Amino acid sequence: MIKVILSGCCGHMGKVITNLVAEQVDMTIVAGVDLRKEELSYPVYSEFSDVQETADVIIDFSHPNCLDGLLAYSVNKGVPAVVCTTGLSCCQIDAIREAAKTVPMFFSGNMSLGINLLAALVKKAAQVLGDKADIEIIEAHHNLKLDAPSGTANMLLDAAIEGLDKEMIPEYDRHSRRQQRPKNEIGMHSIRGGTIVGEHEVIFAGKDEIVTLSHSARSKEVFAVGAVKAAAFMVGKEPRLYDMTDLVSE
Ligand SMILES: NC(=O)c1ccc[n+]([C@@H]2O[C@H](COP(=O)([O-])OP(=O)(O)OC[C@H]3O[C@@H](n4cnc5c(N)ncnc54)[C@H](O)[C@@H]3O)[C@@H](O)[C@H]2O)c1
Repeated sequence: MIKVILSGCCGHMGKVITNLVAEQVDMTIVAGVDLRKEELSYPVYSEFSDVQETADVIIDFSHPNCLDGLLAYSVNKGVPAVVCTTGLSCCQIDAIREAAKTVPMFFSGNMSLGINLLAALVKKAAQVLGDKADIEIIEAHHNLKLDAPSGTANMLLDAAIEGLDKEMIPEYDRHSRRQQRPKNEIGMHSIRGGTIVGEHEVIFAGKDEIVTLSHSARSKEVFAVGAVKAAAFMVGKEPRLYDMTDLVSE
């Protein structure tokens, strides 16, 4: 039986993970960590340092503020972690890389298989279309989302830059300047409203033709399924940083 600590257990994704794990025969949640206090089927602590139970893996859908405590716990106890929280700073991503030298760490801005396929297609399209197209990335999410652009939009930006194989500047706000679009920028646009689960679109706008690649998530379960799979995958792995590429190529 795989024992899980769920970080952010009282949030939207925490609830979806709790329900999904309840359906698994070989996995159980032994403790949760959340600033909110809710009555759940397992004990909930406000900090990792308070957790009493032993576990095989951590699943994290919480807030960047939670990361320090999570990494300290993970490294001290040797418990692998699947970090799904987005909006992390570059320093925080470096801290995950550092922790991965001693304990297996899984990190992905998007846990859906479809999005990871989209990223591969974006990289390919950027390789083929190269300088011939201007790239714009548009994402839409529900009105409760805190970070913008989404972690997935940043992941798609990285995929496009990798495909182009040259330095590009992400442009988040064109309203403050009046000038033509330079060739070396990628536009990043965020829409927030209602209960939109997650829409991502990458436009390659060339001369007289436009190629559009897109993904639409219809429920949060697509991310939960990926996270639960990743948690099972991480048990017993060697310390290093893992991502969805490792999971889908297993
Ligand atoms: N990687 C992915 O595929 C993916 C998919 C969906 C959501 N996410 C990310 O997961 C995170 C959570 O998403 P959500 O929709 O469940 O958000 P949410 O706001 O509903 O839930 C976050 C939970 O974390 C708790 N929390 C906040 N700060 C904390 C702290 N310092 N210590 C402990 N708990 C704390 C909150 O009380 C809340 O219950 C976000 O960063 C979101 O962008 C990632």
